Amino acid sequence: MVGRKVGIVGAGFVGATAAYSLAMVGTVREIVLFDIVPEVAIGKAIDIGQSTNYSPKGTIVSAAPTPSDMRDCDIVVITAGVPRRSEMTRADLLNINAKIMKEVVSDIKKYSPNAIILVVSNPLDVMTYIAHIETGWERNRIIGMAGALDSSRMAYQINKKVGFGSGQTRAMVIGDHGQNMIPYPEISTVGGVPLDQLISKEDMEDIVEKTKEGGAEIVKYLKTSAYYAPGRAISAMVESMLDDSKTVFPSAVMLDGEYGYKDIVVGVPVVIGANGVEEIIELKLDDEMKKKFAKSVASIQESIDILKNSNFFS
Ligand code: APR
Repeated sequence: MVGRKVGIVGAGFVGATAAYSLAMVGTVREIVLFDIVPEVAIGKAIDIGQSTNYSPKGTIVSAAPTPSDMRDCDIVVITAGVPRRSEMTRADLLNINAKIMKEVVSDIKKYSPNAIILVVSNPLDVMTYIAHIETGWERNRIIGMAGALDSSRMAYQINKKVGFGSGQTRAMVIGDHGQNMIPYPEISTVGGVPLDQLISKEDMEDIVEKTKEGGAEIVKYLKTSAYYAPGRAISAMVESMLDDSKTVFPSAVMLDGEYGYKDIVVGVPVVIGANGVEEIIELKLDDEMKKKFAKSVASIQESIDILKNSNFFS
């Protein structure tokens, strides 16, 4: 992939942290930040740009004052959105962020027509679905980042429980990025050793619960949602595309018959490389897992149906 230019739409906590992480690794040549509040993108681009004097490759960081100033990107990461406020219902939040997504995607289509889009805004699976429908692009070019984060949260819980293996843990989380996510300890490993040979069933269940509560736990302490782990997960996925490393990340992708579903975006293990989604890996799920997966898919479908019923896609 030549150019190595990455656009980030939404220069809030997650977008800016992703930019900083990318700049510190140095795979990306150029990062452009855009935010609906231009001062936010400009200020953060200056700050991150000034940090790169000590970064491995002197990544260039700038701000796009308008959407048309962010052009010809190889990859565009979308973190734009509003957080849920107390007076909002889930449907209110969905409608607001869906509208933002539609606008953002339409600009990307215009100004970076060859890009791969990495969606991060929540509700993640639905926002990724919108990006598919609104671009009409090949499905390998639209990916949702959720499983990469959820599995790093799960790895953290595993390492705390076993007391070793940090950096050697491979955890798997499939399904939606919400209440019905499916941490999968049976196929997670520490240094190649299956988790069920290291800890008890009760401990595995505890890890599953703590992984599902991973985001909420941080909100409890910070009163805002997480950004370091999300930012790093984004940059790890972007680096895999730019390096064409063909790394496996659980990611939200459009299914077309895999796992028995079509026309739905949900998290499954995916090979990430220069073409975005290089391959979708079909796990052989047992009956219990199939039930959990169906529940997860149904919860995403419910939100898509809210949008369909309000003629969002027409
Ligand atoms: N175009 C560009 N930027 C926008 C738009 C838009 N139409 N609408 C909102 N934004 C910007 C906001 O101005 C804000 O700077 O998106 C940014 C979001 O940043 P934060 O509010 O700091 O939220 P953050 O914690 O970064 O989370 C962003 O990622 O992980 C998900 O759930 C999270 O959906 C949320 C998103």
